[in-house]
Amino acid sequence: MVKKLNYGMVGGSLSAFIGAVHRIGASFDGKTHLVAGCFSPNEKSNRECGEYFELDPERVYASYTEMAEKEAAREDGIDFVTISIPNNHHYEAAKAFLVNKIHVLCEKPLCFTVGEAEELKKLAEENHVLFCVNYSYSGTNMVKEARELIQKGMIGEVINVNAEYLQEYLVDDIGQSEEKMVKLSSWRKDPEVAGISNCVGDIGTHIEHTVAYMTGLKLKRVAAKLDYFGQPLDLNANILVEFENGAHGVFCSSQVCVGHMNGLVVRIFGTEGAIEWVQENPNILSVTFKGQPTQIYNRGMGYVGTRSQETNRLPSGHPEGVYEAFANIYRAWVEAILKLKNNEALTEADMDFPSIDAGIEGVKFITACVESSKLDAQWITIN
Ligand SMILES: NC(=O)c1ccc[n+]([C@@H]2O[C@H](COP(=O)([O-])OP(=O)(O)OC[C@H]3O[C@@H](n4cnc5c(N)ncnc54)[C@H](O)[C@@H]3O)[C@@H](O)[C@H]2O)c1
Repeated sequence: MVKKLNYGMVGGSLSAFIGAVHRIGASFDGKTHLVAGCFSPNEKSNRECGEYFELDPERVYASYTEMAEKEAAREDGIDFVTISIPNNHHYEAAKAFLVNKIHVLCEKPLCFTVGEAEELKKLAEENHVLFCVNYSYSGTNMVKEARELIQKGMIGEVINVNAEYLQEYLVDDIGQSEEKMVKLSSWRKDPEVAGISNCVGDIGTHIEHTVAYMTGLKLKRVAAKLDYFGQPLDLNANILVEFENGAHGVFCSSQVCVGHMNGLVVRIFGTEGAIEWVQENPNILSVTFKGQPTQIYNRGMGYVGTRSQETNRLPSGHPEGVYEAFANIYRAWVEAILKLKNNEALTEADMDFPSIDAGIEGVKFITACVESSKLDAQWITIN
């Protein structure tokens, strides 16, 4: 009986942003062991990372293709890889591990084009491996509670969605020359590295997935207006959306909203009630049933649903946040791979992590928003 998994990382050197959050999330339940990596194209930084994590120097690789091939050839090779590098490498890196039959957990946005995304799905199926796209907010406990309440029909049929993801960190880029632009994560503003979108690709896609996860609804079409403020990629986007069930909504995604740090807010309106979740206050859910005062649901209390109970880690009142959201995704991911390794059948309930289909929907969404904006916010059909 296999009880623990070995994994490797692509990206996530010691100076990277989200790589460390992956390592912490993966380690929460004590079932993973980091044994290999290609953490940086910079030789020194790659080596230092390997030393820091006390890896066998033979398993610190200069390229992810070499890592995929050599790990696949080892008897004790990695069971899965976490890909946490800038967007332009996602497709090639994921492909390298898929063809070597290694399970892949990849950062969002999945890749640059819908064709690439669909090819990755085909490769995952052909090679019988699992694929997770890290839409991390769907790992949040109270997002799971929102999903369960909506699935149970507690707010009736979803008729309207109002969601936003507002940041301010690029406001100083407005009207600036390249030399004066904010340096933080400057690759996000480079079309060669980030892809066709900065703001929608980086954070708008989180809105799209968090709403899809909570409601179970698929987007049918979008009408978007992206603002570039003289920069090569968008810094702000206002998007009208229509879902397959006929419901409509508005998504606002921005990196130029003064006073907002990481303001993902999702409001779902149904025929019988409404739900609101605020990422910066993630342990509560505001729930209003028609004709009643708004109720505050607290994470960890006895009245929350099954999935929220199952993914609860701390007693109520002890805040859980981004690390726990990552940990919940890793828990489901690791348990699913363990089941496969132990020849146990996977059920739908085992697959509570964002799949390759979520990644494909994300790429479709980004592509449609950019296309719509070029056509002065014409409706563009996604599905
Ligand atoms: N899910 C989330 O909440 C979330 C949050 C932040 C970032 N992200 C995504 O994670 C990815 C990484 O973002 P970040 O902010 O950590 O970027 P970053 O620039 O901070 O880190 C990128 C890392 O990749 C390494 N790298 C670059 N090219 C490489 C290569 N060819 N081989 C090996 N390593 C290489 C860099 O050395 C660095 O360690 C992006 O796709 C981003 O969209 C997701």
